[in-house]
Amino acid sequence: MKSTFVSAALVASTAAFPHLAVEKKGVPAGSAHKRVLERATQPQGGAAGVPAPLLPPVFDAASQRIDVNGSHAFVAPGAGDARGPCPGLNAMANHNYLPHNGVATITEFIAATTSVFGMGVDLATFLATYGAILDGDGTSWSIAGGSHVGIGGSHGNYETDSSPTRGDLDQYGSNSDLVLSQFKTLYDMQPDAATANYNIEVLRTFRETRFQESISKNPYFSYQPVAGMLVSQAAFTFIYRFMANHSAEAPEGILNKDVLKSFFSITGDDDNLKWTPGHEQIPYNWYRRNTLDAYTIPYYILYFAAENPEFLLVGCNQGEVNTYNTISASTLSNGAYTVAQAAANPTCFATEFAIAELPGLTGLSGSLVNSLTGAITGVTGALGGCQGISKVNTSALTACPGFALYGGPTGPVAKGAVQS
Ligand code: HEM
Repeated sequence: MKSTFVSAALVASTAAFPHLAVEKKGVPAGSAHKRVLERATQPQGGAAGVPAPLLPPVFDAASQRIDVNGSHAFVAPGAGDARGPCPGLNAMANHNYLPHNGVATITEFIAATTSVFGMGVDLATFLATYGAILDGDGTSWSIAGGSHVGIGGSHGNYETDSSPTRGDLDQYGSNSDLVLSQFKTLYDMQPDAATANYNIEVLRTFRETRFQESISKNPYFSYQPVAGMLVSQAAFTFIYRFMANHSAEAPEGILNKDVLKSFFSITGDDDNLKWTPGHEQIPYNWYRRNTLDAYTIPYYILYFAAENPEFLLVGCNQGEVNTYNTISASTLSNGAYTVAQAAANPTCFATEFAIAELPGLTGLSGSLVNSLTGAITGVTGALGGCQGISKVNTSALTACPGFALYGGPTGPVAKGAVQS
């Protein structure tokens, strides 16, 4: 189902987001960010089979192969081991690239994500530091856990609704369990196993489907600045950008059915798929992206938004399904950002919103808030600096019964929720 809201947002996009079209096509000479963005926005293999104009680095088997033998052989989690909603972190803990118990320091998260998946240091530092401060003890945190312990208890500040395969907290009563119908929707989008490739364009379509599904099935669907605008987009792009297998023939990477299933802990035939919680596995003969082509912050948000500007608007259902309304960035930021400015630079809007919002809402100590602010401004500074927000207007969010910062990993199912 495609709501009238989306149609309206798409029509509005021509006037409100002309810069997005520019971001998608434009390439001012000499801009590394623009170059990265341009290749990131090319459909893999190019439209209608035309090769992408800017090629990925030459495949380097020795440096891209990830060891899954010996000390890095798969070991299933035991009773005391934390495994949560992030398949990438679960897989690294299962292969001893992160501590097997699922609790790690910022340094360990950065080392593992950059070396195993080719994540850029900027993105890894932001993701790890943000989580350790908001959802851990300031230096370490769990990949599962509860409130102020780990990802599972971060519903609204980190973990979010309309995820690829994990259920919405208020729709299913869990934010960490995989919902097989959601996985199957993605899985079936590439019917032929011989040619299947869950590339970025497939993921964009799937992202749109999931967004609409949350609107039509989760009465408390809430799409907040950081967790929605930033993290939610990342979760979808990560599937192709980090899970794809690379080779000399396909240096940009191909994500086929078997590799997808392995990373999502799915076994069984197409008509009898089975999910085993926490058994995410790095496949044998798997080659990550080249670190010369590390996946960095400018890559990941604007591609989806160029086609779907609604992904850059904060909004929520208002206690019933199909009651989704957007909340203006201008209202939320007391005029510091217009809607168009927030959409032009969602990283700035969302992170500045977090800096202004979190001290009042999280109960974090002053020193942790300072660390968080330092980590965020480190990132935004590298992007050229951001317009600050002196005071947020969170009263606008009271229209959202699903607004939360520390929900999960489990909770009550909302009245009127539709499960499938
Ligand atoms: C320090 C690094 C990382 C942190 C802090 C992190 C955190 C998270 C969080 C909070 C979510 C939940 C998002 C949501 O609710 O939709 C998530 C989901 C996800 N993450 Fe990670 N992540 C990290 C690295 C990675 C890596 C390296 C991968 C590589 C495959 C990855 C792949 C994913 C995917 C695919 C999802 C969506 C799961 C689903 O719903 O199907 N993440 N991650």
